[in-house]
Amino acid sequence: MPIESRVLHPGLRQKIMSADAAAALIQHGDHVGMSGFTGAGYPKAVPPALARRIESAHAAGETFRIGVWTGASTAPELDGALAKVGGIEMRLPYQSDPTCRARINAGEMDYIDIHLSHVAQFVWFGFLGKLNVAVIEVAGVLEDGRLIPSSSVGNNKTWLDQADKVILEVNRWQPAALEGMHDVYYGTQLPPHRKPIPMEHPGDRIGEPYLHVDPNKVVAVVETDQGDRNSAFTPPDETSERIAGHILEFLEAEVKKGRMPPHLLPLQSGVGNIANAVLSGLNRGPFDGMTGYTEVLQDGMLEMLKSGKLTLASATALSLSPAGMQEFLDNLDFYRQRIVLRPQEISNHPEVIRRLGVISMNGMIEADIYGNVNSTHIMGTRIMNGIGGSGDFARNAFLSMFMTPSTAKDGAISCIVPMASHVDHTEHDVQIVVTEQGLADLRGLSPRRRAEIIIETCAHPDYRPALRNYVARAERQAKLGHGGMHTPHILDEALSWHSRYERTGRMLP
Ligand code: COA
Repeated sequence: MPIESRVLHPGLRQKIMSADAAAALIQHGDHVGMSGFTGAGYPKAVPPALARRIESAHAAGETFRIGVWTGASTAPELDGALAKVGGIEMRLPYQSDPTCRARINAGEMDYIDIHLSHVAQFVWFGFLGKLNVAVIEVAGVLEDGRLIPSSSVGNNKTWLDQADKVILEVNRWQPAALEGMHDVYYGTQLPPHRKPIPMEHPGDRIGEPYLHVDPNKVVAVVETDQGDRNSAFTPPDETSERIAGHILEFLEAEVKKGRMPPHLLPLQSGVGNIANAVLSGLNRGPFDGMTGYTEVLQDGMLEMLKSGKLTLASATALSLSPAGMQEFLDNLDFYRQRIVLRPQEISNHPEVIRRLGVISMNGMIEADIYGNVNSTHIMGTRIMNGIGGSGDFARNAFLSMFMTPSTAKDGAISCIVPMASHVDHTEHDVQIVVTEQGLADLRGLSPRRRAEIIIETCAHPDYRPALRNYVARAERQAKLGHGGMHTPHILDEALSWHSRYERTGRMLP
């Protein structure tokens, strides 16, 4: 199929040019809104061309740095290439690129970690300044100029509306049959004119399958034929299987108690291998007729759609392994009837998550004995990825679960600590903590009761004595008038596990 067939609008076809020519339209200091969400639907040609341009500018002694705004994480061609040449002044929101991470942690690049549902509205509110350029990958351009979104929707609607200039990448690799799978809601307003989001079921279609753009703002159209990142998942190991087992058992018990319908409530599953293993567990489990209301659709949900355990899934991006992508492509007609891709401001909308009663399951770095969760920082100071949508879901879900192996780095680190070294999800937003050791149901428990159950159920047995000892001494101290008994802590010692790890490579002496 000739690539021109994907750009049917005559005016936009006139604007087809090379990636280098398009990248030349981006200037130092620009805020650039890029498409892309968890390795799907990101522009693949203009960012590397821009990185080359920035590198040449730097070699010539010129300053050239831009602000990069995305949906979420992208890929080495975008985050990696631009970070490598020192081209990013400030990045938002979620990223997971090793080069970006290194630059951020070295203090060479600013990073603002924002809840994914907040990004679009912050731009509409004017909180982040002017968006100068949008670089958006699409699967095609219709004759009337409407755009067929590609494998993620993310913040594209907002970038296209808000940017002064638009560069489109039309990617022939993206299946043409994606057309019709998306649901782009154009009904959002600014306060005080907001209306309820009219969604009552995860599969409801409340918008339209296309993105709009003012053709006069489009300054370049670049044709590409390049695949998404599509990294493979590692097969579930014993730890993730055990975490999945605890969650399944818990959900079964909840259904038996009549707290949830037999087909559960819509599932949200976070990024990574453990989340994928939990979905595989659910696929083998006793529940039928489930639905998904999530952010990223990974292989696990695809398998559940295939088996019929999941009847439909709503997300903002596909994040499939190469094998998952092949399965998706081979059976596209089947999946497009069962998958809806939406803007992230809707997939992660607190109002909708609360109304649907989502079951939220996300990974974490550590939890403390009182149930505060750190999803983002290593030893309190170094960013890992970002909060992503975990906060959007955790605070508003029917059930909010956080999961992690009980230890990291071959047991040198306990993922259950006296005090979290950074808090993304406070004790108020965390109902269930799960490790391979067990599942702690924290609902209805005061902080001290929480500490008991988290230590005895979730902590690794090697760390339990030290945690018990910490709590006992904190309580003794509080009773002597040094501190309170509501959330007992020894302030001088609360973060000593982390500082000891930094000094010695082990949390315990
Ligand atoms: N202290 C220090 N390092 C830790 C740690 C801890 N308590 N727990 C894990 N780590 C390290 C691991 O050793 C690993 O290091 P490596 O990269 O050097 O191998 C790294 O952190 C990642 O750990 P891993 O167990 O592989 O994590 P994961 O792939 O399951 O991801 C998160 C866990 C928390 C990083 C990931 O879920 C995340 O980014 N979450 C936030 C965003 C989110 O929840 N998004 C979904 C919302 S919709």
